[in-house]
Amino acid sequence: MKTQKHDAIVLSSSSEKDAQKQFTELLKSTPLPDDELLPNLGLFLSSKALSRLLFFNEIYQKILHSHGIIAEFGVRWGQTLSVLAALRGIYEPFSRHRKIIGFDTFAGFKGFGEKDGALCKSKDGSFSVTPDYESYLSQILGVQEALNPISHLKKYQLIKGDATETVPQYLKDHPETIISLAIFDFDIYQPTKAALAAVKPHLCKGSILVFDELCDDVFPGETVALDEVFGLNNCRVKRLPMTARVSYMEIE
Ligand SMILES: C[S@@+](CC[C@H](N)C(=O)[O-])C[C@H]1O[C@@H](n2cnc3c(N)ncnc32)[C@H](O)[C@@H]1O
Repeated sequence: MKTQKHDAIVLSSSSEKDAQKQFTELLKSTPLPDDELLPNLGLFLSSKALSRLLFFNEIYQKILHSHGIIAEFGVRWGQTLSVLAALRGIYEPFSRHRKIIGFDTFAGFKGFGEKDGALCKSKDGSFSVTPDYESYLSQILGVQEALNPISHLKKYQLIKGDATETVPQYLKDHPETIISLAIFDFDIYQPTKAALAAVKPHLCKGSILVFDELCDDVFPGETVALDEVFGLNNCRVKRLPMTARVSYMEIE
């Protein structure tokens, strides 16, 4: 099933979707006053949405003793980036080196091809966002930073464009980069392969790679890309019990 706008894939059952719709309506008609709304957003967190936040909480703790930046490849609305910034504020509020960088076209898929299979029926432009969304997200990340120490040092960056070009270019411009956590969520083969290949020389032992679509028949391209760059036989791909789809591996 696709979303009404932006052509994103949703695998929820119809009863799940009804319940989510109810949540959305209840949020839109909330009687909570403005100054009490944000601290009570947990009211609307489903177990599924919460499980993803808990996953990233556990993953963040795995990099606390590793040096390097966090990079997300495939940002979309940017919730993961914002949550990671909040986790940085909790666990290491003075870590100015723990930059958080997000790569996305902010215009949906770019590079959808044969290796992405026929099941998902996506195309270039699927999973788009609203025009100039990156400016809105940048403001959100700025507020996250303002709520934590050393906010005068900007520690986030959104890099717009086709990742097959932007990721190698960023790393060429920043040869000092060590990546402690790389999150691969482009869903599709071409940008995932390009990002994996570009990132590989910037990983150290202990770096963590997170994947959203490994072993997923809807988006086979991500696994093919990992196989071609690292070789599946060399990867110890793990998961946490609370999330079905997300997996991770540590560079050994
Ligand atoms: C599933 S969404 C990412 C979701 C996000 N990680 C989250 O946690 O909500 C996939 C994203 O990959 C981006 N994308 C796909 N192909 C791309 C490419 N060639 N270059 C840059 N971004 C790309 C899309 O624009 C889309 O926002």
